Amino acid sequence: MHSTLDIALIYGSTREARLCDTVVRWAAGEIAARRDIALEIIDPREDVAGSDTLGARIEAADGYIVVTPEYNHGYPAALKALLDSADEQWSAKPVAFISYGGVSGGLRAVEQLRLVCAELNMVTVREQLSFANVWEQFGANGALYEPDRARRALAAMLDALGWWGSVLRDARATLPRARAA
Ligand SMILES: Cc1cc2nc3c(=O)[nH]c(=O)nc-3n(C[C@H](O)[C@H](O)[C@H](O)COP(=O)(O)O)c2cc1C
Repeated sequence: MHSTLDIALIYGSTREARLCDTVVRWAAGEIAARRDIALEIIDPREDVAGSDTLGARIEAADGYIVVTPEYNHGYPAALKALLDSADEQWSAKPVAFISYGGVSGGLRAVEQLRLVCAELNMVTVREQLSFANVWEQFGANGALYEPDRARRALAAMLDALGWWGSVLRDARATLPRARAA
């Protein structure tokens, strides 16, 4: 039986004039049309890393979408602090990435995030979405000038996230898991 997955979309940037707002709003708008995903937002600018409330929200999610920029070929420190603030709550769940930045579209940030998420025992989704030279891609109204490619990439990413999310939710509920020290 198929049922809705609870997916938390996580802001990577906390900068005051962040473009992350534009990318998150676009992605959340697109995802709202999908009946298989219930989305909630985690924003390290609002949600305090390490708080019980945030820990419970991370725990409650069936999977995650991280929306991250690239800073000096890495990902933002606030995102690392958020990832480090929980442990078992992330475990055996899928995470997908939407990245943006200059010429690389944030791909180098995502490669680093894949290593970190592996240590948190998450499954990283291969399909991803990136926006190179992001400031040229969105109009003042927040819409993409050329949405088709991004929509196709987002749909493929969400399908893969949904598959892993369903499989791992069932597995967490039914199979005991051995944990290494
Ligand atoms: C401190 C800093 C470092 C950056 N380093 C890179 C970089 O290494 N590669 C890149 O493509 N863009 C880089 N950029 C451009 C950002 O990816 C771009 O400004 C993006 O909009 C930042 O996301 P934000 O506005 O949501 O914080 C950098 C921006 C900042 C502020």
